[in-house]
Parts: sequence; C-alpha cells; structure tokens
Amino acid sequence: SNRTFTMIKPDATRKGDTGAILNHIVKAGFTVKAMKWTKLTAEQAGLFYEIHKERPFYGELVEFMSSGPIVAAILEKENAVADFRKLIGATNPAQAEEGTIRKLYAASVGENAVHGSDSDENAAIEGDFFFSKLERF
Ligand code: GTP
Ligand code: MG
Repeated sequence: SNRTFTMIKPDATRKGDTGAILNHIVKAGFTVKAMKWTKLTAEQAGLFYEIHKERPFYGELVEFMSSGPIVAAILEKENAVADFRKLIGATNPAQAEEGTIRKLYAASVGENAVHGSDSDENAAIEGDFFFSKLERF
C-alpha cells in the first residue's frame, strides 16, 4: 500500500515542535490525506496501543499518550510504511540515525515524538481508529 498513519506525540506538541516535524514529513515527500489535532483519553490511548498491553511499559505509555494533545494524520507516498519508519528512526532516539525525526526531536524511548505504523494492515486499522470517511480523501 502507499499509505501510513502517524501521530505527533504529546512530548513534541508540548515543546512546540509540531510545525518543524510536519515540515520534515512533507519535505520527505509524504502527502497529508487527513489530519486532526486532538487529545486522547486514557481509555482511547489504551485501545490504540492494546497490542502492547502485556508489555511492562503499557501503563506508562497510556499515561504519556493521554497527557497532552497529539496530531494524527494519514500520509501517502510510495512505500509509505517503510519509508516513514526510516524517516522517524529507531524507537529509542539514542539509537536513531542522524537527521531522523526521533534523533532531532525525541528525548527518550518512552517520549519519542512520533508514531509510525509498522505494517500496511496496521496503517489501515490506525487510520480508521481516528478518521471517518468524511475526514479523509
Ligand atoms: P510507535 O511508532 O510509537 O509504534 O513506535 P515503535 O513501533 O518504534 O515502537 P513499539 O511499537 O515497539 O512501541 C510503541 C511505543 O511504546 C514506543 O514508540 C514508545 O513510545 C513506547 N515504548 C517502547 N518501548 C518502551 C520502553 O521500554 N519504555 C517506555 N516507557 N515506553 C516504551
Ligand atoms: Mg509500533
């Protein structure tokens, strides 16, 4: 597929890095097909990250992801899922390559500035979690 889903996470919106991160994304060739600025409840964050519910950091992750505003978006580009994960870099910013979004804007493995879907299937599920048919094209 040529689509992925992203969120700019609460650490980044809090620091005022939203615009800079969106610039990176657009300059890298991604087209925004849907976008919203919103805030998740703990219950909504828990549902979104349900796949991680057995991991030791789940509680911390849910608390963090509901701690402030996020920007959710559906992005289009050839090879979107893999190219976007390359653009954002490793989960832990200490291990992320120079020039990646997490290297530039993330502080820790927990508070790592952006989300990127890990498969075409999850990109579709995650896009549907946030956007109705009227809100996307
Ligand atoms: P996402 O794009 O957000 O899904 O990140 P990822 O695919 O690079 O990592 P993964 O799906 O394995 O983990 C999901 C999210 O859980 C990460 O982005 C982090 O925010 C958080 N996370 C992962 N590992 C840790 C950890 O060891 N401690 C904490 N506090 N959070 C973690
Ligand atoms: Mg993931």
